[in-house]
Amino acid sequence: MSISYNIFLIGFMGAGKSTVARALHQKLGLPLVEMDERIVEEQGISINEIFERFGEDRFREIESRLILDLGEAGPSVISCGGGVVVRPENIEYMKKSGKIVFLSATPETVYERVKNSTDRPILNGHMDVEYIAGLMEKRRALYEAAADFTIRTDGRSLDELCEEIEEKIES
Ligand code: S3P
Repeated sequence: MSISYNIFLIGFMGAGKSTVARALHQKLGLPLVEMDERIVEEQGISINEIFERFGEDRFREIESRLILDLGEAGPSVISCGGGVVVRPENIEYMKKSGKIVFLSATPETVYERVKNSTDRPILNGHMDVEYIAGLMEKRRALYEAAADFTIRTDGRSLDELCEEIEEKIES
């Protein structure tokens, strides 16, 4: 399959964006961009430090700038930060340069995947299923409205997920 546009993977923290992006990058031969990693490389400090020293708004500005830059670069598979949908302009930039795939997972699945993580400032001090469920509910409509299609990830193999994405992305 030859793809000439960006594939943006969106969804809550722990939905599987990075894992699926890596697999699609290998299958489709498109470059891989992990947004958070790119931000850490460019800023020279961790995501936690960006939040602590400069605040969430500054992080969101950096994130929007990167989305804009990625829209102007060649086609890639892009694993987006979970909060990328909170700024409407990000969705607009993504739609202009590619297709948006929403990876969904239940709060329980997310919790199991992120419970030992300390590098997600949004969840620091709130690492529990109730908080995750509440924030996910607040964002769900944004993810759904932004996405070209949704893929449920709970209990499914990586191969199944990639096959479904490959089928849907071309239709
Ligand atoms: C965030 C998700 C994180 C990262 C930052 C904020 C969010 O990315 O961008 O900590 O607001 O949901 P992952 O979804 O890759 O963990």
